[in-house]
Amino acid sequence: MSVPSYSVSDFGTTKYGEKARKFTLNGAGGVVLEVSDYGGKVVRLFTADRDGAMKDVVVGFDSPAGWDDGDPYWGCIIGRFANRIAYGKFELNGKEYSVPTNNTPGGIPCALHGGTRGWDAYVWDAEPFVDGDNVGVVFKRTSPDGENGFPGKVEVKVVYTLTKDNVWRVDYEAVPDQDTPINMTQHVYFNFKGESGGSIEDHVMTIAASNVAPVNEGQIPTGEIRAVDGSPFDFRGGMRIGERINEPDAQLEIGKGYDHCWVLDRKSDGLEFAGGVYCPLNGRNVDVYTTETCMQVYTANWARYEQIAKGGEHLSFRCAVALETQHAPDSPNKPEFPTTVVKAGETYRSTTEFRFGVK
Ligand code: BGC
Repeated sequence: MSVPSYSVSDFGTTKYGEKARKFTLNGAGGVVLEVSDYGGKVVRLFTADRDGAMKDVVVGFDSPAGWDDGDPYWGCIIGRFANRIAYGKFELNGKEYSVPTNNTPGGIPCALHGGTRGWDAYVWDAEPFVDGDNVGVVFKRTSPDGENGFPGKVEVKVVYTLTKDNVWRVDYEAVPDQDTPINMTQHVYFNFKGESGGSIEDHVMTIAASNVAPVNEGQIPTGEIRAVDGSPFDFRGGMRIGERINEPDAQLEIGKGYDHCWVLDRKSDGLEFAGGVYCPLNGRNVDVYTTETCMQVYTANWARYEQIAKGGEHLSFRCAVALETQHAPDSPNKPEFPTTVVKAGETYRSTTEFRFGVK
């Protein structure tokens, strides 16, 4: 074990003209995490394989320009509302709200990940820290009333902590001054062969969920909660991502692969195992623990070849996998789903841990 430390450097200017910084967090257990105050984006994350060799296992870019397209939100903090809101519209306390749409799967518009300029696209106040064996960054931002059409001002805080046990913990806290939907996540994408390692179809994934939320052509949950038994969505016992991903299944065809919200089998309100991914070739593994009810799993089915990541490699179809802990998409329009509305003055809280190791 070593002494945790951090360093700070310039990260360039965003397309919105904001100056960004980068924080390199050297964890006491060996994991190194590079993150920016530009939407909390993960730039690099080094983990050890079963021989102790370190490799960068996330998709990221060397400067804010890499994120100019926004989508697919490589390694960003997502808010005010993760995933889709159908037509960008919802009703709350008898009033209709409209979030500018920025995504049109199947030709059907929706507000994705908070709409046109989500919380990922701002530079946040950021304070790095070392606290005993931990190193991390506290990110804060005030989302003004009416931002992207959402009601109420929200004070948001996200803390990244890297522990001596190679756990990257993400703690979210948000306090609105009016009732408003809040649903946050971290959109990190892993490829345990390295950023340029090609497809993640050889990675083995586990998801602790007996049910999944099917979607319509617009990738909006239909409201049905469907048992995964016998289907390509049953990852309870662990399965290679590629094992059944290309089967002729109506749900897999909509998203060109996995892009669904699994409803986690929870027993309590505390941190519980949600799932994990490992690479049999080198043993690198992450186990995800969360307080959230669901996990959206996305296998980068729309990754575009013209996007070039840090190592100069072109990104490609299914080049990474995102395990996004959150509440269900379109919850503001789905009274049958657990509510995502946070009442004025109440505190939204959510915690997710990415526990890195080898298998
Ligand atoms: C969504 C995908 C989307 C991706 C990148 C995921 O959370 O489920 O449909 O393409 O984010 O924006």
